[in-house]
Amino acid sequence: MEDTATIRLGSENFEFPLLKGTEGEMALDTRTLRAKSGFIAFDEGYGNTGSCLSDITFIDGEKGILRHRGYPIEQLAEHSGFLETAMLVIYGDLPPEECFDAFRFSVRENASIHTGMHHHFDGFPSYAHPMAILSAMLNSLGAYYPEMSSNDREQDLAHFNETAALLISKVRTIAAMTYRMKMGLPFVYPDHNRRYAENFLHMMFSKPYNDYVDEHGAAKALDLFLMLHADHEQNCSTSTVRMVASGGANLFASVSAGVCALWGPSHGGANMAVIQMLEDIHKSGDDGTRFIQAAKEGKAKLMGFGHRVYKNYDPRAKILGKSAEGILKSMDIKDPMLDIAKRLEQAALEDPYFIERKLYPNVDFYSGIILKAIGIPVEMFTVMFAIGRMPGWIANWKEIADNPKSRIHRPRQIYTGATLRDYVAMGERE
Ligand code: SDX
Repeated sequence: MEDTATIRLGSENFEFPLLKGTEGEMALDTRTLRAKSGFIAFDEGYGNTGSCLSDITFIDGEKGILRHRGYPIEQLAEHSGFLETAMLVIYGDLPPEECFDAFRFSVRENASIHTGMHHHFDGFPSYAHPMAILSAMLNSLGAYYPEMSSNDREQDLAHFNETAALLISKVRTIAAMTYRMKMGLPFVYPDHNRRYAENFLHMMFSKPYNDYVDEHGAAKALDLFLMLHADHEQNCSTSTVRMVASGGANLFASVSAGVCALWGPSHGGANMAVIQMLEDIHKSGDDGTRFIQAAKEGKAKLMGFGHRVYKNYDPRAKILGKSAEGILKSMDIKDPMLDIAKRLEQAALEDPYFIERKLYPNVDFYSGIILKAIGIPVEMFTVMFAIGRMPGWIANWKEIADNPKSRIHRPRQIYTGATLRDYVAMGERE
């Protein structure tokens, strides 16, 4: 294949270089398009536009492939855990033992939050959405670490390793404290003898008279859930983190913006919407047939289905589907939601509407069933997604920060508003 492409615009030909990724993806490099031709490219939703070169995650949506730094998600799910995968995503390789121990120590040491931040929770009503609290608290966290949130890129990078471990640790603590505040319960301090996921469940569910005991493998299921959410190339929230980082903003501000982007029901908010959908179907006595029909008529969306990139099965959904069965079995829970989810999946996978549109279960379809079995309330589901995605946001922020040629993200537009007109005063106004 030629290494350039020629585009004819009007009576002129313009040549543009081609880019090729390590997995063979091809791109037309249009960085000089406007300067050369006066034209811009238009791609609402960016479905055909690459915003960056990245080494972190590779997805082949047609084949249902997901790899982090070259490692298939299936192998990481079987052999790795959340913190090790977090280091892989952030630093580029599986950590040697001494590095992994140092990282785990830093995560453990950073599990508490400044007591000054405890009072921030007093300012939220108990009915505040956990994602609103999480975003606010993450940005506030930066205020307690001015040396890490200076917006002086060199200085922020100099503290990157501490900031990464601190955010991965404290996002979990803030999430648990949010739950406790909303439930009117006293905060539970982290237990340094517990590993990452179990420490979260301890901070969520321990009581003054008896500490949380993980009897049915809930911590293992949660660790897998978090690991499967660690990164996912340029999804809506990660692109938001990169957008904010491109202006020179620090890591706290960037991930706080990522939380806001993740909250939407088309993105991370879908895991809450899936459970709501399954419960509504269960309550209505529908076996899923009516709902599928409504989705086909555009009257409903099969939440947890479909994906901008995957036009095949989301590999994470396969793993989470098995994990959901496993956790329910070990807890001896008969959750009708799982049966409904499996019936919906079967029906959709056989239905031409879904087949033609290549709509398959995505990461959110089964994840809520696992979180519900562990005892996480539905409105905390997207917070759990944010905890899992923190390493990916951090890694993407670093790719921007490390690149001296990185430019501020500032897309163009096609203006369709009123053309030039003179202002005529409408009489005396305030
Ligand atoms: C995540 O990007 C990432 O990587 C995200 C994520 C990550 O790890 O960060 O993977 C996490 O966000 C997963 C997606 C969670 N969202 C949902 O499950 C919500 C339900 N899904 C849809 O809203 C939708 O599928 C999107 C938003 C996920 C993708 O939307 P697209 O790519 O813009 O596709 P589209 O809306 O243009 O749909 C194409 C067609 C349309 O029908 P027609 O106009 O051709 O007739 O498919 C239909 C849509 O109506 N369709 C659905 C559907 N999803 C798409 N019809 C019914 N149910 C659905 N879920």
